[in-house]
Amino acid sequence: MSGVAVVGAQLGDEGKGKAVDLYCRSADLVVRYQGGNNAGHTVVVNDEKFKLHHIPSGIIRGKTGVIGNGCVVDPSVLIEELEELEKRGVDGEVKIAERAHVIMPYHKVLDNAEEEIKGDRAAGTTGRGIGPCYEDKVGRRGVRIHELLKPNSLRNKLEDLIPRKRALLEDVYGGKVGEEFEVDPIAEEYCRYGGKLKDKVVNSSSYINEKIEEGKNILFEGAQGTSLDIDHGIYPYLTSSNPISGGATIGAGVGPTKIQEVIGVIKAYLSRVGTGPLPTELDGEIAEHLIEVGKEYGTTTGRKRRVGWLDLPMLRHATKVNGFTGIVITSVDVLEGLDKIKVCEAYEVDGEKIEDMPADTEKWGRCDPIFRSFDGWSADWNTMNTYNDLPKNCRKYLEYIKEQLNVPIYMISVGPKREQVIINKNIF
Ligand code: IMP
Repeated sequence: MSGVAVVGAQLGDEGKGKAVDLYCRSADLVVRYQGGNNAGHTVVVNDEKFKLHHIPSGIIRGKTGVIGNGCVVDPSVLIEELEELEKRGVDGEVKIAERAHVIMPYHKVLDNAEEEIKGDRAAGTTGRGIGPCYEDKVGRRGVRIHELLKPNSLRNKLEDLIPRKRALLEDVYGGKVGEEFEVDPIAEEYCRYGGKLKDKVVNSSSYINEKIEEGKNILFEGAQGTSLDIDHGIYPYLTSSNPISGGATIGAGVGPTKIQEVIGVIKAYLSRVGTGPLPTELDGEIAEHLIEVGKEYGTTTGRKRRVGWLDLPMLRHATKVNGFTGIVITSVDVLEGLDKIKVCEAYEVDGEKIEDMPADTEKWGRCDPIFRSFDGWSADWNTMNTYNDLPKNCRKYLEYIKEQLNVPIYMISVGPKREQVIINKNIF
């Protein structure tokens, strides 16, 4: 048996979907352990594109996908995704944790109301209701998946809860309540969803641990990225869950001893959808290059992503909080065509040079990057099979990252297609 977590080392959108898709060839189970449909994983198979939000991308390989207890689920989105996969002939199984929390219609309205009132300090959320749903979870008033199977108790809970949600929207945010705050239609609709999902609902911790006992290989698929982690990220411009490797044990219901490998996925530059500081942010021609060649538009919201040079202090932090045993570096082909490629190796702030990311996000915003420059590269990315096929300058760049983080490179992705990849180490 082997347990492997694949997590984002930066700000999400590092290319985790592809790493998971390739590594899960030898996995039996792929488990999402946090987040919801704020995530968007794109997998390209034979020029066919799959965009998944709730369902682990391993499903495309015909694996069993588990939506763990640490996730928040919008049932209508999940059902749509399931129907789409069925229509396209993908036959992997999906299991949903009884303990996962449900994103309710009022969560989405409150998400947008909160963003609006925050003004400059808004996180630039995906508007999917993620934050308010996790707030209810921690506030011990959330609706969990198993409750969608019990019409009476769901209705009683909503009758108790919804008046407070209405008051929150009207009295605190000055909003106007609509059908998203009506008990009857919500109770009916969500019970209907429960009926559609009930065959897939399981005690995910028992289910996963049983598979572990049977000696199966489990891949834990992180969503978002380390700097968006509620505890270890750039507070408050982050998401409301724990994308880091530790989140996998809590959000899947397995002990830390069941995870032997933690793989950090690093994009060869930075991209960011959302607000807040970004010390290595680029604009002008180089930014345009990265956005156009790297197709830097959000999978979930379609928003144009912000881009920047690779930030090593961010990656040092990610290496520590996740305990990476290996890294995957993606999008090295996107840097082709640039004369010089820079990496921020430290920051200068308040007259001091620092190599770690400050915990204070305001201070992070004042950091001036200290850059190291690398010569650019070009190659035919379709004929790349081994590490030594990579252009010399590209290898220098990769070696530098590896040495700085002191973690081996397990895989390098050199293009969007499944076969455009160099695998140094198979993990199962
Ligand atoms: P939320 O997760 O929708 O609450 O959004 C909080 C912050 O996380 C915002 O800055 C989003 O843009 C960002 N975010 C959430 N999910 C993703 C993702 O999958 N990729 C990149 N950024 C994300």
